Amino acid sequence: MKIKKICCIGAGYVGGPTMAVIAKKCPEIQVTVVDLNEARIAAWNDTDVNNIPVYEPGLGDIVAEARGRNLFFSTQVDEAIQEADMVFISVNTPTKTYGEGKGQAADLKWIELCARQIARVSTSDKIIVEKSTLPVRTASTLKDILSHTGNNINFQILSNPEFLAEGTAVEDLLSPDRVLIGGDPSPKGQAAVEALVEIYSTWVPTERILTTNLWSSELSKLTANAFLAQRVSSINAISEICEVTEADVIEVSRAIGSDSRVGPKFLKASVGFGGSCFQKDILNLVYIARTYGLNEVANYWEQVIIMNDHQKRRFAKKVISSLYNTVSGKKIAFLGWAFKKDTNDTRESAAIYVADHLLNENAELSVFDPKVTAQQVYTDLDYLGTRESSKNTSLVTVTEDPYETCKDSHAVAVLTEWDEFNNYDWQKIYDNMLKPAYIFDGRDILETEKLKAIGFRVYTIGKTQTL
Ligand code: UDX
Ligand code: UDX
Repeated sequence: MKIKKICCIGAGYVGGPTMAVIAKKCPEIQVTVVDLNEARIAAWNDTDVNNIPVYEPGLGDIVAEARGRNLFFSTQVDEAIQEADMVFISVNTPTKTYGEGKGQAADLKWIELCARQIARVSTSDKIIVEKSTLPVRTASTLKDILSHTGNNINFQILSNPEFLAEGTAVEDLLSPDRVLIGGDPSPKGQAAVEALVEIYSTWVPTERILTTNLWSSELSKLTANAFLAQRVSSINAISEICEVTEADVIEVSRAIGSDSRVGPKFLKASVGFGGSCFQKDILNLVYIARTYGLNEVANYWEQVIIMNDHQKRRFAKKVISSLYNTVSGKKIAFLGWAFKKDTNDTRESAAIYVADHLLNENAELSVFDPKVTAQQVYTDLDYLGTRESSKNTSLVTVTEDPYETCKDSHAVAVLTEWDEFNNYDWQKIYDNMLKPAYIFDGRDILETEKLKAIGFRVYTIGKTQTL
């Protein structure tokens, strides 16, 4: 079966870039990305590609090339579904905030709504592709809803999880380590798998396209994120040991990463992992394990989250204890708010939780991030619901100038590893700060010796300090 028209429901961080790359690589396929959010679609359609809603290096050029040719962004959801041979579901699946499984299970409300909408409007056979990360066996829910339409339409469900990382989305999509496609073993199921394989094989070498059954594919996505997050929590656990033993976590990472069985990636100690996926997917895994009565398995994976929460808290505590056990009324400058560099995404960013902890101690924060807006910073803090919104506004300022952010502060905390932080005029920053001037480098990116020579007292994650 040759796919001519694709519809993708959800124009977010995953749906937008993924569809843009498919459209670029397959100019003969018409790709329409739909979303309920009108403002978001309008932003994707902005004539100036610098204003598209997702910041990813290289994405603007791809959108500029394909948009209007075979890539479209629209709010006409029913129409786009109806016309498509293949429908990707790429809507968000946040952790449930209510009822059974609250705080752990994935909220599948949007997925179910999509399935019902597809069932309602379809008049021809379709392949439905799960792009959103979902609990294992969600495909059977989709199938159940879609097979009860009574209109004799054949729906094949595929699982095709996305492994792109934000900030490198375009690169990851153009040359992925692997593409994973799970499908039903029946002949119709396998034909659907082949249709999707054909699309990807336009630019991905076939040996990198893995096909599995549906359940392996769904579980592999959760497992991949759980393993990655586990590596970060593991090295962060070691970073705390380093700080009391005069070992240096960078040296330890290099030493263990040189073992080809371990490998060098994802061994960078940090103030804690963030992002929309790691915590959500591990909680999901934990919830599934508990549902099946696998308590030891659940506890094992839950520890990755517990360690991550500990890392964020202990960073905040380090700031407080270093500043003579009180930060009340003291200005602390935050460099970085995004959950990692090269993205404007702040979901679950460690910075939010460190800020919350310091605000509980009445600190005054000044935030600078090259890509995050003031509005987003306040939204993130308000979302926690720890204090009145007016209190967040009065205690936190957001500036567009890092020197202004650091001026008159007692301490600078580095929360995101933006490259530009290293190129600042640190002498100038030092001159304008209160003394003693502290730096808390939660990403180990600054040149410690240079800063110490200027006069800073420097704490770096994973290194023993004499502050
Ligand atoms: C989402 C999921 O969170 C993640 O688990 C999955 O792996 C990929 O899809 P992301 O693209 O980052 O990740 O989410 P987000 O940026 O929130 O985009 C989802 C979009 O879907 C939003 O723009 C939202 O408006 C839209 N949506 C949601 C719909 O169009 N219809 C719905 O019914 C629900
Ligand atoms: C992740 C997965 O990498 C990707 O495959 C999946 O599709 C979605 O989830 P993402 O959340 O975009 O991608 O970013 P990632 O680069 O994995 O970083 C996640 C968090 O871990 C960030 O906060 C990052 O700063 C942190 N991290 C990562 C570390 O603290 N140390 C590391 O060594 C690596």
